[in-house]
Amino acid sequence: MEHNNQADQAGEICLEVNGLWKIFGKKAADILDSDLRFESKETILEKTGNVMAVRDVSFSVAKGEFFVIMGLSGSGKSTLIRMLLRLIDSTRGSIRVNGEDILKYNKKQLRNFRRNTTGMVFQYFGLFPHRTVLDNVAYGLKVSGVSKEERQTRAQEAIETVGLKSWEDYHPSALSGGMRQRVGIARALTINPEILLMDEPFSGLDPLIRREMQDELIELQDRVQKTIIFVTHDLHEALKLGDRIAIMRDGKIVQIGIPEDVITSPADDYVREFVQDASPAKVLTAGGIMDQPEALLYEWQGPKAAIRTLRDIKEDYAFMVNRTRSLLGLVTLNRLKTVIQNNGSSLKKAFTPDPPTTNPDTILEDLFPIAAEADYPIAVVDEDGKFMGEIQISSIFENMIQDKEAVTDE
Ligand SMILES: Nc1ncnc2c1ncn2[C@@H]1O[C@H](COP(=O)(O)OP(=O)(O)OP(=O)(O)O)[C@@H](O)[C@H]1O
Ligand SMILES: [Mg+2]
Repeated sequence: MEHNNQADQAGEICLEVNGLWKIFGKKAADILDSDLRFESKETILEKTGNVMAVRDVSFSVAKGEFFVIMGLSGSGKSTLIRMLLRLIDSTRGSIRVNGEDILKYNKKQLRNFRRNTTGMVFQYFGLFPHRTVLDNVAYGLKVSGVSKEERQTRAQEAIETVGLKSWEDYHPSALSGGMRQRVGIARALTINPEILLMDEPFSGLDPLIRREMQDELIELQDRVQKTIIFVTHDLHEALKLGDRIAIMRDGKIVQIGIPEDVITSPADDYVREFVQDASPAKVLTAGGIMDQPEALLYEWQGPKAAIRTLRDIKEDYAFMVNRTRSLLGLVTLNRLKTVIQNNGSSLKKAFTPDPPTTNPDTILEDLFPIAAEADYPIAVVDEDGKFMGEIQISSIFENMIQDKEAVTDE
């Protein structure tokens, strides 16, 4: 199994954390210099009264990556994310952002870093009750000394980005939990930070609104492409949002990987326990279950050649692509026969232009509605419309069943 500690080599590294420790208490340094550091959190607490919160954590995050930190309550997630902003001093280790050692920053550099490079969204919103939505959102700019006019414009933009247009003059008390959370996100966005840190931002919300906010965050991320460090203890949230997930236990990162790895090859019993209830429908993706068809048809082929191909592969359909493998449509045996009967010589008359398609990241659950409407396999296409593979309707259900067994059979 791959332990994906490092960000994708292809991507530029944004954040790099190495051997990071946090022990709360006066004996932190002594503990770190002795074998006590290998003891359990309980033993350390008993013997020294100090709390081992983060233990020798290393990972890196690529620019534009959505990195999720997950773990049970008390596992050290908030401590870790706060150390990244130096809201908590680390006991030992290094934190580099764009190659710069932020632990060496002086006060001024640190202030700059917090105001311009990073934006943090806290679990309980942290809004000013007596300020309007607009003023709350503009707050970060105000402390940075941005002029009033520019503050207003930029805050306005962020408010629109999170879908709160026309709520500018209201006070937080007039908003629902979900809307307040959006104000918090807008405030973090106004400064247009490179890195967005979010500590359980949705955990106060009810499930429906929570799902809606997750969808919006995904959409937002598509548009603004921030590097996001997101803390949660909800597995499905982690699986849905994360490009990679780090799982923490007792201050340690016990596994880092892409969602499918975490589900299919949990590193230990703790992770297995965590992912046991994960439904394959929420985890497996179109790209993960697609197959390569035995043949594709090309736009320049004639209908007779196409019919021969279908007979060779014993299918009654095939997808048709152009020279650059962009999907043009679906050709069926019946349509081909009709075209030939009418003496048609071009395959272009034989294809249905808009067959059901999906992108490789779509999870199984979201394929159901497409599958329900589909008479033929679903084509998987990338962002540019290039054909990547196909999914047989039956395999959607087979995959669900197989993986359920793989996950629960021990
Ligand atoms: N200021 C502090 N002083 C002493 N111990 C602390 C302090 N802050 C956190 N801790 C301890 O550090 C450990 C990690 O806490 P942390 O808040 O990082 O956990 P968490 O994973 O964010 O949990 P939750 O999911 O409940 O938010 C806990 O045992 C906690 O009691
Ligand atoms: Mg926390």
